[in-house]
Amino acid sequence: MSENIPIEKPAGKLGVMMPGLGAVATTFIAGVTAIKRGLSQPYGSLTQMGTIRLGKRTEKRVPMIKDFIQLAGLDDLVFGGWDIFTDNVYKAALNAGVLRKELLDQVRDDIEGITPWKAVFDQNYVKKLEGEHVKKAPTKYDLAQMLMEDIQRFKEENDLSRMVMVWCASTEVFMKPNPVHETLESFEKAMKENHPAIAPSMIYAYASIASGVPFANGAPNLTVDIPAMFELAGQKNVPITGKDFKTGQTLMKTILAPGFKARLLGLNGWFSTNILGNRDGEVLDDPESFKTKEESKLGVLEYILQPDVYPELYKDLYHKVRINYYPPRGDNKEGWDNIDIFGWLGYPMQIKIDFLCRDSILAAPLVLDLAIFLDLAQRSGMKGIQEWLSFYFKSPMCAPELYPEHDLFIQLMKLKNTLRHLKGEELITHLGLEYYD
Ligand SMILES: NC(=O)c1ccc[n+]([C@@H]2O[C@H](COP(=O)([O-])OP(=O)(O)OC[C@H]3O[C@@H](n4cnc5c(N)ncnc54)[C@H](O)[C@@H]3O)[C@@H](O)[C@H]2O)c1
Repeated sequence: MSENIPIEKPAGKLGVMMPGLGAVATTFIAGVTAIKRGLSQPYGSLTQMGTIRLGKRTEKRVPMIKDFIQLAGLDDLVFGGWDIFTDNVYKAALNAGVLRKELLDQVRDDIEGITPWKAVFDQNYVKKLEGEHVKKAPTKYDLAQMLMEDIQRFKEENDLSRMVMVWCASTEVFMKPNPVHETLESFEKAMKENHPAIAPSMIYAYASIASGVPFANGAPNLTVDIPAMFELAGQKNVPITGKDFKTGQTLMKTILAPGFKARLLGLNGWFSTNILGNRDGEVLDDPESFKTKEESKLGVLEYILQPDVYPELYKDLYHKVRINYYPPRGDNKEGWDNIDIFGWLGYPMQIKIDFLCRDSILAAPLVLDLAIFLDLAQRSGMKGIQEWLSFYFKSPMCAPELYPEHDLFIQLMKLKNTLRHLKGEELITHLGLEYYD
């Protein structure tokens, strides 16, 4: 058994701040409030419902994760956020159309008072949106200072002991890393010069990390995945993680693809298409925002299937992803997959998946877990990229010299082993045993 890592106790309240109080954020806030009132269970949340096996299987030690390691409780969470629209969380949740009005009315008293702070926004980075509730300042650096004031005010007004930030705002246009992202010095200089390579999401991330607040990126934007942010996170001892919540179709891919590879079944093609009618779908209707999402969705199979190791099985795989904005469906996305596989003697077979999912219902528990685990990471003295949280992302961030891990089951093993390590328990490295958790 290894040493226990000293972990600060989660005393006091934890502030959860979100840029973007849209479908995901409001489903998360209203959901936590409903669960606290006993109206439902925290389905989909590892921190609330997950267990962890400890020691030998014969020992039969399988506590709940939240009983094994001290985590912030639901009662400790306080919510805040920014948006380009002025709607409070109750109204924004009604507009998002994810949760039923009857449920929202039962939590209305608690969520109606949460109103968004003015956003840092620039339409050049999200072409499909226009909003008035936006901060104005001469430079991007000044905007960051204004966000830092919001963060401090939120802390003082709510008497918070700790805070985290989770990006739940719209997907920005595709951006490649730029030389100004290379160092903290060049990044700060670029902010002061209003350089176009500094996107609004980067200004939030900078303000968060500079304030000592851990940051998670739920969208595929570059945001914290640049060396300047790694440097700042290192200096400030702040954990960071991202990118892009792993929910509907990509969740399915990272469940199925490891299975095909395990059984050495080949793949000729994987065609994925979606119809989606919420605001996220509308933003992704813009080719530049879609490109950011497409990159994030396409990378997954390449890493899991390792065509360089298994060229006979995967080198000719044709992988295509489409998202179609179709308003009648709202948040209730439909994702189709056609998978062309081949087996013994090369005989072809097909698999069809039709996932009638609810995007924000799948994403909300991820926001909860990320907020709670990032807080744990900070209390445990962990800083920089948190690869053990890859489990939650389509494009997991990793150290520049490493490659990301996409296999959901390996990701889960890494996550639980990190918890075991923090508590000085023996690590379980045999994947098969993990299924007995
Ligand atoms: N729901 C899912 O399953 C899922 C999965 C992966 C990623 N995501 C990502 O999560 C994000 C949120 O998704 P959603 O369905 O809630 O979208 P949404 O459109 O309902 O909400 C996004 C909100 O962000 C606001 N916004 C945009 N730019 C902003 C800025 N600069 N500052 C503050 N607010 C800003 C918008 O006004 C909107 O209210 C999107 O980027 C989406 O791609 C969602």
